[in-house]
Amino acid sequence: MPGAIYAEGLVKTFGDVRALDGVDLDVPEGTVLGLLGPNGAGKTTTVRCLTTLLNPDSGSAVVAGMDVLKNPDAVRRSIGLSGQFAAVDEYLTGRENLQMVGQLYQMRAKEAKARAVELLEQFDLTDAADRPTKTYSGGMRRRLDLAAALVVSPPVMFMDEPTTGLDPRNRQLLWDVIKRLVSGGTTLLLTTQYLEEADHLAHDIAVVDHGRVIATGTSDQLKARTGGERVEVVVHQREDIQSASEVLRGFGKGETTVEDHMRKLTVPVAGGAKLLAEVIRELDTRGIEIDDIGLRRPTLDDVFLSLTGHVAETKDEENGKEAVK
Ligand SMILES: Nc1ncnc2c1ncn2[C@@H]1O[C@H](COP(=O)(O)OP(=O)(O)O)[C@@H](O)[C@H]1O
Ligand SMILES: [Mg+2]
Repeated sequence: MPGAIYAEGLVKTFGDVRALDGVDLDVPEGTVLGLLGPNGAGKTTTVRCLTTLLNPDSGSAVVAGMDVLKNPDAVRRSIGLSGQFAAVDEYLTGRENLQMVGQLYQMRAKEAKARAVELLEQFDLTDAADRPTKTYSGGMRRRLDLAAALVVSPPVMFMDEPTTGLDPRNRQLLWDVIKRLVSGGTTLLLTTQYLEEADHLAHDIAVVDHGRVIATGTSDQLKARTGGERVEVVVHQREDIQSASEVLRGFGKGETTVEDHMRKLTVPVAGGAKLLAEVIRELDTRGIEIDDIGLRRPTLDDVFLSLTGHVAETKDEENGKEAVK
């Protein structure tokens, strides 16, 4: 049985650009799929096709049990959407915006009011509740946009880069909100450029590049393919590279890479912070002076590098175009 969000062979072209080149997805009910990819990969186009805002050239999609192409109105009634194109009325206050959404969804006025109060509180907007939205900062708008998507709890939600442009505190706040939402049974498709975010929130991850899903799996599975954590060391003196490399070999789970000009050595490891402490002690014992040392998890770039053999392309102009001001 197909999941709450199901897509097969979605293709969408814009002139010469093949934005989607056969996207397949299957998201089981009550789970979170993180759609991960660099700018221009096709994330937003996928979301727009699944939320009836855009018709694919070919392929099919079923959302909340209904065919997106045959039954768009019914799909729209069963989904919530927040993202790079969702609209907030500039001239209304935050409170009015949220109440209006509630009324659009046929809530009673009293109920819509109460829900607005709750969400303003949750998103730390109570103080600004009665100011016109046009006076809000970028981060505040972003939060209001997300709150608007949560006025009703539809069975299926889409969030397009919900935390891009949020500071760490608000990112954490949003993560908590999302976790609560999902524990209530909502199926969520979330796009992000951050592996860390998918890590916190998603049951499964689909990596998209050039309009195709190039890998799927849990975050752990993707990281395992990328080789797990790495220790990075920058030695103070070039002469120490060789002996540092010997130390790392003793702890590593794979080959040590050396960037000579930066005096930097990197090795995949398994063992976390405890192992890091041992590496530091061993370097110290041998009198190797270090400028910097750290443990890092694979980044999106590492995952991309290992999946595609090339560093993810970045297309910043698109980011600019889509950015919520
Ligand atoms: N309306 C459009 N007109 C022309 N090209 C578009 C349009 N929307 C998206 N594209 C192109 O399709 C590709 C995928 O874009 P998009 O889905 O927005 O990627 P992402 O959300 O992953 O950054 C990009 O090359 C982008 O320039
Ligand atoms: Mg996008």
